[in-house]
Amino acid sequence: MATTEPQVLATDVAATAVAAPAANALISVRALDAFFGATRAVRDVNLDFLEGQVTAIIGPSGCGKSTLLRCLNRMHETVTTARVEGEVRLDGKDIYERSVNPIEVRRRIGMVFQRPTPFPTMSVRDNVTAGFRAAGRAAPSRAEQHAIAEWALHRAALWAEVKDRLNDSAMALSGGQQQRLCIARALATKPRVLLLDEPTASLDPLSTQKIEELVYELRGDVTVVIVTHNMQQAARVSDRTAFMLLGDLVEVAPTSRMFTSPSDERTEAYITGRFG
Ligand SMILES: Nc1ncnc2c1ncn2[C@@H]1O[C@H](COP(=O)(O)OP(=O)(O)O)[C@@H](O)[C@H]1O
Ligand SMILES: [Mg+2]
Repeated sequence: MATTEPQVLATDVAATAVAAPAANALISVRALDAFFGATRAVRDVNLDFLEGQVTAIIGPSGCGKSTLLRCLNRMHETVTTARVEGEVRLDGKDIYERSVNPIEVRRRIGMVFQRPTPFPTMSVRDNVTAGFRAAGRAAPSRAEQHAIAEWALHRAALWAEVKDRLNDSAMALSGGQQQRLCIARALATKPRVLLLDEPTASLDPLSTQKIEELVYELRGDVTVVIVTHNMQQAARVSDRTAFMLLGDLVEVAPTSRMFTSPSDERTEAYITGRFG
């Protein structure tokens, strides 16, 4: 497991200062604004997501967490009135450059939503391989599909529970299993980054714990960004935490420091429960 020492970056202290990307940044966001029509939901965000680490985004409802997350894989622009300004660099290359295909971006930067979204008419196995089959390369053989499904289901800590149910409908699984199935589906295309938008919001405590353990296990191999309104969850699963308020990124810091000695008084007020 590649757990790293808490690391303080130039951008940690002054979240709004435009700095060079950290050496180990996989995604580097600069001067990012996200709009819905004339409303600016995300304002001038500068933030690095470090390779192999888990970054949590916290903040009160409506502060722009999901919008920021959806800018990281070009999902934001799928809303008709939505627009993005600024840069999101993956491995140094701006994903908003004209030559970049957004479908390809979404394959390399997978996403899982608040409610499980399995394809209802597909089997467990076909759900996992759906993105892989849609990738447009030569159609994978049955054996290849099975191998990928097995690999991804292991990775999503679901294999043991579904190995005898691969041909069953995905809808026969519990909510928690469906959410891990969606994670398996996202992992099957071997993305560099996994975006999780409140992935446990609809789940019971035991299913939540399984997802949290899974997120913890993925670090090192996959760069994870998890939106959560649950501060304990952020503290349990993340290496770094970013706090947003009213569309602004207030502060980002190693998680242990964020929850013990935040540098901004608004962060302090939020984590001590004075609002939110
Ligand atoms: N599809 C949309 N159309 C218009 N406004 C939206 C849409 N989605 C979100 N917003 C607005 O953008 C702001 C940020 O929302 P969101 O990113 O969903 O916040 P969070 O995830 O932190 O709860 C809110 O004011 C919300 O009302
Ligand atoms: Mg949200």
